[in-house]
Amino acid sequence: TTQPVTDQLARPLRELRVSVIDRCNFRCTYCMPPDSLQGRGVFLPLVKLLTDHEIVDLVRTFTRLGVHKVRITGGEPLVRPGLPALIEQLAAIDGLEDMALTTNGVLLPRLATDLARAGLGRLTISLDSLDPDVLREMSGGKGKLEDVLAGIDAAVAAGFEQLKINTVVQRGVNDHTILDLLEHFRGSGHTVRLIEFMDVGNSNHWELGQVVPSAEWVRRIDERWPIEPVERVRASETARRYRYRDGQGEVGLISSISEPFCGGCSRARLTADGMFYTCLFASKGTNLMPLLRQADQTGDLGERIRAVWEGRTDRYSEIRGEKTRDNDKVEMYRIGG
Ligand code: GTP
Ligand code: 5AD
Ligand code: SF4
Ligand code: SF4
Repeated sequence: TTQPVTDQLARPLRELRVSVIDRCNFRCTYCMPPDSLQGRGVFLPLVKLLTDHEIVDLVRTFTRLGVHKVRITGGEPLVRPGLPALIEQLAAIDGLEDMALTTNGVLLPRLATDLARAGLGRLTISLDSLDPDVLREMSGGKGKLEDVLAGIDAAVAAGFEQLKINTVVQRGVNDHTILDLLEHFRGSGHTVRLIEFMDVGNSNHWELGQVVPSAEWVRRIDERWPIEPVERVRASETARRYRYRDGQGEVGLISSISEPFCGGCSRARLTADGMFYTCLFASKGTNLMPLLRQADQTGDLGERIRAVWEGRTDRYSEIRGEKTRDNDKVEMYRIGG
């Protein structure tokens, strides 16, 4: 309908990640370590969350500006009360071609069927290890391997195919369990993506030494099961994809640290209380609530979003070295990854 909105680096606004709640039933050490949750008021009071109606209005406005792909995130999105009803309304928006959701999987046995019925298209499930002790440790004592695996089974039973399995890799924490995990999913139709541990937020105690550069995985995987690169389909893909030469599927590498992908970044992000961010590592956002609450539908909301995107210059991962001392980045569980 409208002309694509482009930023200062000619990147169009094409994708939107919507965090629907900042709370989570896990406490992953790379996201919400215990010391980061001290004090009151860490999480949004439930009354501060956007209503379903507000989220739908916002997403509709973004689709009019060229967004065709939405990913629902959290926190853990499945802990938002009444999520399937929200998904159903979003699925009905004109111009939205693709809707996906990222979850830790634990609540899928309860919700997968409702989500499929509501029109959710794709699911990504986070799973950091098949070693139950490692998984428990990385999820802050909360995650049980059998629950996540039951979630994966429930997703498949509900009709979700070709899941993406997200695995954050931390050297010395779960890197020794990665090849087992890949072996488990080879030939399953699901694609594991190994994610370099990132310096999101200010409180996850990120250290460069804990990052395993993706090139190391390409070498190690290729030694065990020969792989070959797959061409990118879209400029904005986060993962570099590789195909197992024996036909057993693909593996992805998300290399924000060793091989930044800002050049094709078309992703906008919304928090559960209506803040609009143009980068995962942003310190400043734009509060869209005031314009959203204006009753008079003047089109100001869309104009504001357009203006913010047109002014965008973000490329944090490419200039990380100069920026690591900034200490006011938005937290992962608020911005949704
Ligand atoms: P698709 O819709 O299938 O392309 O999913 P996705 O890879 O965009 O989403 P997902 O939630 O699975 O994200 C995978 C990992 O990539 C997470 O760790 C995200 O935080 C990270 N990620 C996603 N988008 C960006 C980005 O724009 N910049 C950086 N640095 N990391 C990102
Ligand atoms: N570094 C890399 N990935 C992270 N995720 C959460 N925190 C980090 C981090 N610090 C991942 C989650 C989920 C995705 C949305 O982001 O595990 O798969
Ligand atoms: Fe929850 Fe995801 Fe953060 Fe883990 S990474 S604590 S599952 S929001
Ligand atoms: Fe996009 Fe920011 Fe990630 Fe770069 S660091 S890919 S600009 S979200």
